[in-house]
Amino acid sequence: MDKLLLWMAVFTSLLSEAFAQTDLNWKVFVFPRESETDYVKLIPRLEKPLQNFTLCFRAYSDLSRSQSLFSYSVKGRDNELLIYKEKVGQYSLYIGHSKVTVHGIEEHPSPIHFCTSWESSSGIAEFWVNGKPWVKKGLQRGYTVKSPPSIVLGQEQDAYGGGFDKAQSFVGEIADLYMWDSVLTPDDILSVDSGSPPNPNILDWRDLNYETNGYVAIKPRVWNN
Ligand SMILES: *[C@@H]1O[C@H](CO)[C@@H](O)[C@H](O)[C@H]1NC(C)=O
Repeated sequence: MDKLLLWMAVFTSLLSEAFAQTDLNWKVFVFPRESETDYVKLIPRLEKPLQNFTLCFRAYSDLSRSQSLFSYSVKGRDNELLIYKEKVGQYSLYIGHSKVTVHGIEEHPSPIHFCTSWESSSGIAEFWVNGKPWVKKGLQRGYTVKSPPSIVLGQEQDAYGGGFDKAQSFVGEIADLYMWDSVLTPDDILSVDSGSPPNPNILDWRDLNYETNGYVAIKPRVWNN
């Protein structure tokens, strides 16, 4: 009986501290140190597999090594959808374990606004960095991105919800993360960039369902880009 009460107390405190559904407008997640234990799990509104998507976020980091920016894995398959920064001016998008890499010029260290979209029917992936289109690439034409995902910020998943590696962790600040089940138009991307995201229906920074783990803090966003 004591054990049951203890578990109930643990469960209740987990619910009240770790889970939240929050408007994070003008807030950031701070990942303040390199680790393999600190991360944020995002709980999406997503029942169906994805034929099209757009994902946008802001990030500010002074790391120059490679790092995971957005890790979406499904059972039995990691790298189902992954945004991985290889180095300054070089980003990779993985879909269903395949990858494309784009190159461009960016200041470092400097906050970025990053958007990427993918359309199954053409396989075309678009990239927007600070509102500028980088070169389009193509991968996994005809594929469907599986669900339900485990979505993690701060770490790269080599397994569903785990398999983290310190050398791939993110250190810095992440904000304004939004995800749609459609490909946004260039005008929409500019609206997101300027702070007016049109109806984000999978992940919405202003109504975010998340769970923090380890050393992660929520602070005001004091930078813009
Ligand atoms: C995905 O986009 C294509 C057009 O690019 C559209 O024909 C298709 O219906 C979309 N799929 C879904 C599930 O929205």
